[in-house]
Formats: sequence, C-alpha cells, structure tokens
Amino acid sequence: MARTLITSAIPYINGIKHLGNLVGSQLPADLYARYLRARGDDVMFICATDEHGTPAELAAAKAGKPVAEYCAEMHEVQAELGRGFRLSFDHFGRSSSARNHQLTQHFAVRLWERGYIEERTERQMYSRADNRFLPDRYIEGTCPNCGYEKARGDQCENCTKQLDPTDLINPRSAISGSTDLELRETKHLYLLQSKLRDELDRWIDSKTDWPVLTTSIAKKWLHEGEGLKDRGITRDLGWGVPVQFPGAPWSGMEGKVFYVWFDAPIEYIACTAEWADFHGLEEHEWRRWWRLDEGAEDVRYVQFMGKDNVPFHTISFPATIIGSGEPWKLVDYIKSFNYLNYDGGQFSTSQGRGVFMDQALEILPADYWRWWLLSHAPENSDSEFTWENFQTSVNKDLADVLGNFVSRVTKFCRARFGEVVPAGGEWGDTERALVAEVERRVRQYEAHMDAIEIRKAAAELRAIWVAGNEYLQTAAPWAVFKTDPDRAAAIIRLALNLVRLHAILSEPFIPDGAGALFTALKTDAKAWPGDIAEALGALPPGHAFEVPDVLYRKITDEERAAWQERYAGKR
Ligand code: MF3
Ligand code: ZN
Repeated sequence: MARTLITSAIPYINGIKHLGNLVGSQLPADLYARYLRARGDDVMFICATDEHGTPAELAAAKAGKPVAEYCAEMHEVQAELGRGFRLSFDHFGRSSSARNHQLTQHFAVRLWERGYIEERTERQMYSRADNRFLPDRYIEGTCPNCGYEKARGDQCENCTKQLDPTDLINPRSAISGSTDLELRETKHLYLLQSKLRDELDRWIDSKTDWPVLTTSIAKKWLHEGEGLKDRGITRDLGWGVPVQFPGAPWSGMEGKVFYVWFDAPIEYIACTAEWADFHGLEEHEWRRWWRLDEGAEDVRYVQFMGKDNVPFHTISFPATIIGSGEPWKLVDYIKSFNYLNYDGGQFSTSQGRGVFMDQALEILPADYWRWWLLSHAPENSDSEFTWENFQTSVNKDLADVLGNFVSRVTKFCRARFGEVVPAGGEWGDTERALVAEVERRVRQYEAHMDAIEIRKAAAELRAIWVAGNEYLQTAAPWAVFKTDPDRAAAIIRLALNLVRLHAILSEPFIPDGAGALFTALKTDAKAWPGDIAEALGALPPGHAFEVPDVLYRKITDEERAAWQERYAGKR
C-alpha cells in the first residue's frame, strides 16, 4: 500500500484564521488527504497550532490571560473550527506539547554536537524595571525615519522600515513603558546554516519536479546578497521551549527559549508522536512515518503552505534535519500557494477585513466554502474572493448543476418507478458516448489530483457533473417514458448510478454533500471507480433509495449584499 505523510503549515495560535489562511494550507492539504484515502492509500495527515513566540505572549496579555491558558483555549477554538470545515486531520496537535519540547531540545543538542550550533555573545536591550532582556518587538520608540512614535524594535508599522532596537529614538519597554533601558551583553545560540549551504543547494537541485514558485524562493535565500545567513535560534521569552534544561551542553541560558520558527516545524514530527500517544500506540507506530531506519523509506512526504512559509520549509527545517545527522524523513514535495485577496483589497486580521473561519460557518455550511475556495485556489497567481463570484459559483455549480441533477433524477424515478433502481431496457449509443466521456474525464481528474493541480481538478469534476446534466437533457426520460418505459428505466438506472459516482468523486471537495448522497442512495459502495462502465452498474435493479433533501440552496442577491456589507471592516 502506498504511504503518504501530509502536513499543513501549522496556524499561529493568536486568533481565528481567515479564509485566505485556510485555502493556503489546511484546506488543500485536506483535499489531498481525502483523495489519497479514497484511492486506498495509507495516509497520515498532520496539523497543529503554532503556539510560541512573541505574538502568542502579546495576544494573551491583550486577552488578560496567562499565556498557557490562552493557548489551551485558542487551541480548542481552532480545533473546533477545523472540525466545522471537515478538516480530516489524523491529529491536530500543539507545538507546546511535551513531545515537541523533547524533540526540539533533542535536535538542538544533536546540532550542537555536530558543530552546527554555536554560542555568540551580543549586546541586547535590558530593562531594569522589567528585570529582563527585551526581544526586539518588546521595545517601542520613535521611528528615526518617519517620526512615528510607536515604532517597534523590529519594524516601523507606519513607514514599514526594518529597524534595529538601537535605531529607535527614546526607546522604552513595551511591557512596562519604562525608559530605564541599557545595552547588556548576553549569549544566544546560532544555527550555522551557512555550513550546510552546499548540501541544501544540491538537495534543492534534485527537486526537479517542484514548482518554480517553491525552488526560486529557496534559491534566493541560498544565493542572494551575502548568501545563506546563520540564524539566531534563541529568544528572551518565558513562553516556549526552554534552552537551558538538564543535560544541555551549554550553560547560562536561563530565561531563554528557542525561536518559534525553530520549534514549529519540528512539531510536524512531534505531532505524529502526539497522535500515537493519543491512541495509546507504541513508539514505532509514529516513527515508521519519520525514521528512514524504521520504515519511512517508502513514505512520500508532501507539505502544504503559503508562499511566505517556503523559506522555512526549504532551508531552515531541512537544515535542522540534515544537520542532525540522523535518518529523519525530508520533504518530497512542497505545494505552496499565493495569496487570496478579499473584495478589492487584502484580508486583514488586524483590521478584521474579510471573512474569518467562524463567521463563514455561521452563514453557510462547510461545503459551500470548500467548493469555492478550492475551485479558486491561488495556485499560479494571487486570486480574489468577491461575493458576486461566490454567489455565482455556488448557485451554478452546486445548486444548478450538481444539486439539480440529483433532484431531477431521484424525483422522476420516484414518480414513475418508485424509490428503487428500475429494471428493464438497455444502453444505446447515447449511454455509450456518456460512459466514454466520463471515463476520459475521470482519468483526467485523477491525473490532476495526483499532480495536486487543484483548480484543474475542480474544473474536471465540474465537467463530469455537467456531462450528467447534458446526458439527461439529451436522453429526456420524461418524454421517452410515454412511449417506451423500458428505455426510460435504462436512462434513470444509469443516472442514479451516476449520482453514486458523483458522490465518490466529489467527496474530497464536498464531503457533507457526498455523505448525503450515499445516505440517500442507501449504499456503502464507496470504492474508487476503476472501469467506468462497471462502476455505473454498481446499483442494480431493485436497489432501494430515498429522494434526498435539497443538497445546496441558492444564495439570494439580498444575502449577498448584506454579507458584503457586514464583512467589509472592523470585526
Ligand atoms: N505559524 C506559521 C504561519 O501561520 C506557519 C508555521 S509552519 C511550521 O505562517 F513549519 F512552522 F510548522
Ligand atoms: Zn517609520
């Protein structure tokens, strides 16, 4: 059995994600996982919340909660929304888990032992009032470039200039407001990525099947400017994986934690261990997905992420893995996405602009969103969500094409033959032509899904739905019935079988609708179709079914206008 490990970029813990975040990693990863499972593959699909770093600490402070409590709550919120969107993770873990603490510290020690981590002493802002070193983001002051008074130590929000804390005029602590700051010497750990440059370069070169969007970003980091830079991987924060722990080969690093981008990708591995713990399985059960010496040799590993995440997945995380000198699985294929824009601008978390995951589910069920988002995935360029476009897609594709086909076929059958697959009649040329078309399209659909070409796959699926409608129009069973009921029976028998085929093929995109169809057809025959003529005979004459409720409703113009207005600004 083919084995595929799938990871989605793990969403930051602070706040609910918008639809642009969703379509950039978790949703397409789910589509692929569902498809491969339907094809009979052994799949491990992993995601988690990314819980460390200053944004988590700041969001918790803003919410007036201890950071651990805040993260636990937000993890539940995100997990629930994932369930709402039918994201079929094998496990949705937490980067703050004990497993990730252990593994992150393990990798750091290995890298140190092999000479890929070193200590560097640097001068950093220390706040006497707060009794701590301040990370760049925790220092505020006046921007030397534009005079904005609330510029942060890493960047000015007003003029976007990248800053160093020492550039700020009148620097003060963002925690206490104190200006009693001084530069003090402190030690940090650096990951010596530059030592691994040639090896990373060769590895990227071997990925000839990767999209240029992915490899060009990696190449840029490897070669542009001074080339690959070594990275500080420790920070002065309380929340995170402690750098100083029993058995650590370094000393004097109390009060520091690993940089969030160091521990976050390691969570992919740790989360698989969390999965095993959750199910009471042995170590080997998760290690067989990750360790080449324990069975992962035959695993194919595919990652999903937005383009801003690519450098960390093509350079930093591989550097951690390669530098460890241990036989951990490296990624085989990276599927990256451009951005989804919102109604003439950008989605904005800080401004509450756009539709967020919780709001989306309040107005319509998951399938509506899944279908639109996936069929418009920002694969080759940025794409844009507009309410007009959403309304058109839902009303045409889901309601008119798919929903209407199902409703006409099942209702006509009930009226003329009862709620059973009718017997009698035979296939003629029209049927053979339909079967040939569907055969060709299904094989094309598989090819697009195998290549993770999501828009193309969606277009092919829609074409299969359309073929059913056109067949029904041409064969016109309602007219034929008057003169040749046997022939009408043959048409309807084929059409009912086509409904079953639609359900199987559509499940990765619209799992709820597919489930409703299987229930209506009273069938467990969900196996992926081989020969299409055979698949279209799976429901035999006499098989009972039930006319389903309306599958997808239409979006009215009034609703569209109201929603457009509601999600334009402040949340
Ligand atoms: N939290 C990051 C984001 O939302 C993604 C982290 S992916 C991982 O952009 F590799 F670090 F896990
Ligand atoms: Zn500025």
